[in-house]
Amino acid sequence: MIPISAPLTKITLLGACLMLFSACDEAREHEEREEHAQTSEHSINPDQRKILHMDVKQRHHVLTEMRQLLASTQGVLEGIAENDMEKIAEAAALSAPKAPKTVDFRMKDVLPPDFRQMGKAAHVAFGDMAQKAQNGASKEEITMDLANTLNTCVACHSTFQVSVDD
Ligand code: HEC
Repeated sequence: MIPISAPLTKITLLGACLMLFSACDEAREHEEREEHAQTSEHSINPDQRKILHMDVKQRHHVLTEMRQLLASTQGVLEGIAENDMEKIAEAAALSAPKAPKTVDFRMKDVLPPDFRQMGKAAHVAFGDMAQKAQNGASKEEITMDLANTLNTCVACHSTFQVSVDD
């Protein structure tokens, strides 16, 4: 009995050992994969700004307004460079609070109060710029106003990002 079963036991034991080792290996690999997934998830989404959840239409609405704000900024700057107060007034008025592309009351439920506050501040500033340009303000004054207004763009962009929910 012994001479036959000894090698068999050895083989069984060897087999069990191998299985055990490979099970350990698998467990270790799994652990490593998980760790890796966590780090890469972190590196995929480094954007820690507050997320505004919107549908595609709402996002389009906000971004259309944003592009107008950029266009107004460009126009005001060009007006300053050309010493053209009319151009400044026209460009700034396109981002005034009542301008067509300004986000309206329908977005109230989507946008948090601090967002609306900064948005309003930017529009009011452009409205004031338009008025000032028509009422004989100096280029320097308008330049200072534009610089201050751009602080609001910077502050809001550092705080929020938009995410589209399907
Ligand atoms: C009240 C907050 C707020 C203010 C103020 C603001 N922005 Fe934005 N802006 C945003 C958000 C939020 C986005 C979208 C960011 C994202 O894609 O996640 C954005 C996006 C943009 C874009 C990209 C548009 C596109 O089509 O992708 C431009 C350009 C832009 N803003 C310009 C401006 C300029 C210029 C000003 C100031 C004169 C300004 N914004 C002021 C919040 C703001």
